[in-house]
Amino acid sequence: MPSKYNKLQDARVLIIGGTSGIGFATAEAVVESGAFVVFASSKASSVANAISRIKASYPKATTKIRGYQVDLSEAETLESNLTALFETATGSNTVKLDHVVYTAAGVPDVPSLVDFTATKTKPAFLLHRYDAPILVGKLAPTYLSPGPRSSITLTASSTASKPTPGRPLLTALGSATEGITRGLAVELAPIRVNAVSPGVTDTELLVAIVGSDPTVLADFKQTLKKETLLSSVGAPDDVAEAYLYLMKDGNITGEIIYSDGGRKLKPAI
Ligand SMILES: NC(=O)c1ccc[n+]([C@@H]2O[C@H](COP(=O)([O-])OP(=O)(O)OC[C@H]3O[C@@H](n4cnc5c(N)ncnc54)[C@H](OP(=O)(O)O)[C@@H]3O)[C@@H](O)[C@H]2O)c1
Repeated sequence: MPSKYNKLQDARVLIIGGTSGIGFATAEAVVESGAFVVFASSKASSVANAISRIKASYPKATTKIRGYQVDLSEAETLESNLTALFETATGSNTVKLDHVVYTAAGVPDVPSLVDFTATKTKPAFLLHRYDAPILVGKLAPTYLSPGPRSSITLTASSTASKPTPGRPLLTALGSATEGITRGLAVELAPIRVNAVSPGVTDTELLVAIVGSDPTVLADFKQTLKKETLLSSVGAPDDVAEAYLYLMKDGNITGEIIYSDGGRKLKPAI
């Protein structure tokens, strides 16, 4: 049973994109709070690896941890794959979810302005960061317990408010997520819909951007630190706290929480 402040005890949380980075840290935080977690991502190896890592860290909670494959990179199968995931995660809707968290995104798949071109088929970066969150809003209410204790938390990016030079599409997509959040909050009330907007966070995504050479990675992080008030690159476990808060506060909806080291307020030097 949940207590007054440990509201996630025995809650059921689905984390789409929970096998790595911010999603994985959120999965750990959810398990540590006594909840059941189901996480999902596209690679069977990532799912298996995440299950064994989290079970090793929380051996007493092994029965509360499950993971499944879901691929969100094809328009034709996006909705059916998400529906299948919700069905599996809830035993064909016999056990309702309490919270859905969406952190999935491909490795740096968002093109620069010069590389962007209009295409007939929708690129994966749009499916991951636009269509899929909207479909989560369409599908999740069927599988969530009704009422304001339930929530959907999406993931935006601090670039929505402070553009990164050379990456205008990241700003556009982050802003779209913020708009999707507010639109869904109105549409799905009393189910709550919010988003976390991370700044640069020390996840596998950074390695995917610059590679695993330790010197290059350290230089990259050093440059990014200078962009924040706290001279920091966010730790996934800190950013995960924002997701926990949004799940637990039954009085918040339509809001975006920035966990970005004060990047927005950092004066230009
Ligand atoms: N890290 C940062 O600095 C930062 C900053 C601002 C915003 N964000 C945003 O925060 C979110 C999470 O970032 P992160 O750093 O935690 O990234 P990450 O470590 O790369 O994790 C991404 C997750 O998405 C899954 N995924 C990728 N493609 C998928 C697909 N086609 N279908 C289903 N799942 C898929 C990955 O697993 P598989 O590979 O198994 O599919 C993984 O679980 C992203 O939206 C990112 O844009 C991150």
